[in-house]
Amino acid sequence: MIQYQDHIRDMTEASLAEGFFDGWPNPPSYSVFMQILKNATHVILAKDDQSGQVVGFITALSDRVLTAYIPLLEVVPAYQKRGIGKELTRRMLDKLKGIYMVDLLCDPDLQDFYEQLGMRKAQGMLIRNYEHQSGSPEPQ
Ligand SMILES: CC(C)(COP(=O)(O)OP(=O)(O)OC[C@H]1O[C@@H](n2cnc3c(N)ncnc32)[C@H](O)[C@@H]1OP(=O)(O)O)[C@@H](O)C(=O)NCCC(=O)NCCS
Repeated sequence: MIQYQDHIRDMTEASLAEGFFDGWPNPPSYSVFMQILKNATHVILAKDDQSGQVVGFITALSDRVLTAYIPLLEVVPAYQKRGIGKELTRRMLDKLKGIYMVDLLCDPDLQDFYEQLGMRKAQGMLIRNYEHQSGSPEPQ
């Protein structure tokens, strides 16, 4: 069974399942991944209670007043299409329901996924510094 938690208190790097950052040419190491989870304002983890492994996660960065951004949602390939991604998103949107602006960027083929969860299509702008895809060498 999958269990969900909104903290990383009892987790270690070793409990992260293999397969995150699937398809990224220059993915973060799992120690950088831990830092990402620690630094996020909000995090929700999906854990397989049989193996104790974290198989999915979603993060949000927020000023805790008016705005929040959801930068990362991922379920490892072996656990996809079982409703975990939707449940993680549903739980994060519920956590952020007191916040005015909740934004994320996604490819067009995922817009229906987020629309089913109550989000609206929008336009956006971005920069990607690909040389830092594995994590900034000097985190600010
Ligand atoms: C997107 C993602 C988190 C969905 O997780 P999941 O646990 O498989 O999602 P659920 O089982 O809750 O929902 C499955 C639905 O997701 C949608 N979906 C998932 N990936 C999709 C994709 N690449 N394109 C279009 N729809 C997609 C489909 O509508 C699918 O519905 P179906 O089962 O009827 O085919 C997962 O595919 C993933 O980790 N992808 C790689 C990372 C990523 O793209 N993250 C989103 C960043 S914006």
